[in-house]
Amino acid sequence: MKPDEWMRLENEADVPSPALVLHLERIDENLRRMVALVGNPARLRPHIKTHKLPQLVVRQLALGITKFKCATIAEAELAASAGAADVLLALQPVGPNVGRLLQLMRTFPAVRFSTLTDSPEALATLNRAATAAGVSVEVLLDLDVGQGRTGIAPGPEAAALYRTMSTLPGIRPGGLHAYDGHLHQRAVAERAAACERAYAAVEKLRTELLAAGLTVPRVVAGGTPTFPFHARRGDVDCSPGTCVLWDAGYGTNMPDLDFLPAATLLTRVVSRPARNRVCLDLGHKAVASEMPHPRVIFPVLPNARAVGHNEEHLVLETEDAGNFPVGTVLHGIPWHICPTVALHSHVSVATAGRASAIWPVVGRARFISI
Ligand SMILES: Cc1ncc(COP(=O)(O)O)c(C=O)c1O
Repeated sequence: MKPDEWMRLENEADVPSPALVLHLERIDENLRRMVALVGNPARLRPHIKTHKLPQLVVRQLALGITKFKCATIAEAELAASAGAADVLLALQPVGPNVGRLLQLMRTFPAVRFSTLTDSPEALATLNRAATAAGVSVEVLLDLDVGQGRTGIAPGPEAAALYRTMSTLPGIRPGGLHAYDGHLHQRAVAERAAACERAYAAVEKLRTELLAAGLTVPRVVAGGTPTFPFHARRGDVDCSPGTCVLWDAGYGTNMPDLDFLPAATLLTRVVSRPARNRVCLDLGHKAVASEMPHPRVIFPVLPNARAVGHNEEHLVLETEDAGNFPVGTVLHGIPWHICPTVALHSHVSVATAGRASAIWPVVGRARFISI
């Protein structure tokens, strides 16, 4: 059996390249493993940034997952349209996105929306807009547990901001948000220990807020690398995203996590510019390229080296080039799936080894209707 056998499609001759192919049975298996890992779908709040697809929201709803995390207003809108009951916009709304969040709440009154804050100014703006609109917005305090990207360090300043939240008429305190996306230790014991250290401050803050008589309805924590550790806590909503589609980056660096690559890139040899080179139609407009090579892993070309990457071309150097004539189909696993999805207006959907549908990547848009 060829190492890329599971990625190949009976009707691949009909699939234009480059294409991102979603393997539906593998996605369903990843969803089942995600639920099994935490034991209860009510404890899940998967991030939809990875796939940006209403069809995959619907498949998660079928497993009893009702809460979702998203990063953009468009993702929030697609989740709500697809039937999500509870949508957390995990990016503090500023500028016109404040009004767009309120518009989302008006358009989907049955959906429980919430968002994040780490700033008294942004919170005050949101409170003013919500009060003027006659509504209140549920807001979680965004905590910086070490990534240094957004959030406020758990401590007295964070407690003060949470207390402020509970005094504002347009704001309902929704609990705490702690994303630990900086924890990428390959060794599971080291990653687990780092996760516990980072989370200890969150737990301490929660205890203090509760002791002060404040309500802390929930804590939302983590992505995929720390999912197993937050899953053990019992009282935390887990928010992994990548594990739904999986990729070569996490597959290589997180050996303890048992998910299946479920999204592959279908490309063709478009030229053989030298005896030991193949050029593929897989430029950086088709595969995420924010990291060094390899940006895609080809199981049939384990020793190939990327020597050139342009908008529509990927040039590989390999002594096996002679075995890959112009027109040959190659299948690879992207290193980083989330931004790869965002490069594709449509995905090809494979079931039972056949490309059987094409889905628009609805959440790739910055605007849908709001
Ligand atoms: C705030 C937040 N939560 C959750 C996730 C999901 O993490 P992962 O991609 O590791 O599953 C991300 C990913 O970027 C994120 O930014």
